[in-house]
Amino acid sequence: MAVIDSLRRNFVELAWFAFAGANLAAMELWPSWETIPFHFIWISLTLVYGFRIWNPKPTGIVLGLVIAGTGSLILSDAFAGSQLWGELFEVPLMSAMFLAMVWHARRRQDAVRRLEREAAERAALLSQQKRFLHDVSHELRTPVTIARGHLEVLRRLNGKPAQEIEVALDELGRIEHILERLLLLAKSKQPDFVVPEDVDVQAFLEDVLVRWSGTVPRAWRLGDVAPGTLRVDPEALRIALDALIENAVKYTEAPDGIELSARQSGGDLVIEVADEGQGLPPGESERIFERFARADTARSRAEGGAGLGLAIVDAIAKAHGGSCSAESAGAGTAFSLRFPGFASAAAVGSARRAGLAVPS
Ligand SMILES: Nc1ncnc2c1ncn2[C@@H]1O[C@H](COP(=O)(O)OP(=O)(O)OP(=O)(O)O)[C@@H](O)[C@H]1O
Ligand SMILES: [Mg+2]
Repeated sequence: MAVIDSLRRNFVELAWFAFAGANLAAMELWPSWETIPFHFIWISLTLVYGFRIWNPKPTGIVLGLVIAGTGSLILSDAFAGSQLWGELFEVPLMSAMFLAMVWHARRRQDAVRRLEREAAERAALLSQQKRFLHDVSHELRTPVTIARGHLEVLRRLNGKPAQEIEVALDELGRIEHILERLLLLAKSKQPDFVVPEDVDVQAFLEDVLVRWSGTVPRAWRLGDVAPGTLRVDPEALRIALDALIENAVKYTEAPDGIELSARQSGGDLVIEVADEGQGLPPGESERIFERFARADTARSRAEGGAGLGLAIVDAIAKAHGGSCSAESAGAGTAFSLRFPGFASAAAVGSARRAGLAVPS
């Protein structure tokens, strides 16, 4: 079994040895034509080496064998008078060409190995960082919950409202929010991060808007919504829209408007959250999707942001094979979430009328 495996692994080398042997025999049998098999041997050696890049020792042995084999045959033919003595120069010339190829191939191989090593180190570091973030967020949840429990007991015992307790509870709430988002981000590369199902877009967006409009005074609007169903994880979509609307609320003031809309773009659905707030500083519309990125640090910190909301929106869109982007022309910002897997109600209706099978 081991012999068969080794033969299979070294198939290219074995085939080349057979080929080179046959060409050596041809050199021996037809001395006046020996230049053709001679070059076949050297060119095939260079080609095989390009694929396999042997270690220096076997490379030296093979090169020595080829020099000895081809050189001795030309030498004996030169003595016999069937070849010119000058043909012997071909051997060192071919060796030099082969060594140049060896040098290039090894340089390239070293560079590739270095890149692979660096990529593996980066991947290990990244996964270590992710595990660390996940573990820290997980471990911090319990003490935060315990602290919240004690503060709530204190509030009850106190009888009357105490500002210190309220501030501490507020801060704990922020920590819980950040931990929740960190845990979500740590999970975002897992295969079960999103579990898509068919979601009625219109009903879903109306529900999101009603939930927010009841709590925050803004000019809430539901713009045009393409009727149809979207193949999406409803919980993940809710988290993404909440993060966008939470930002829209943070960076607007009553009575600024916030509009939610959805349009079809080919087989995709583009959901847009647009506000009439202060807008984004120029050149920030891509960077803000990075973790812990805030466009205007002082302003965002005053708003209590950690810079994780848009990173989560981005992770959710990408987990569905979609994307997200931001546009801001001075005043107001519009965030677009593009999701594949949209089935327009109009298309489904006309397919049904035409008698085609439509998945329910
Ligand atoms: N609607 C918006 N209008 C203006 N700026 C925005 C808007 N949405 C996001 N930004 C800018 O993008 C930055 C990143 O937003 P992101 O939601 O990731 O973080 P955050 O809101 O600061 O914190 P977190 O969401 O973690 O509480 C914000 O700090 C803000 O500077
Ligand atoms: Mg945010």
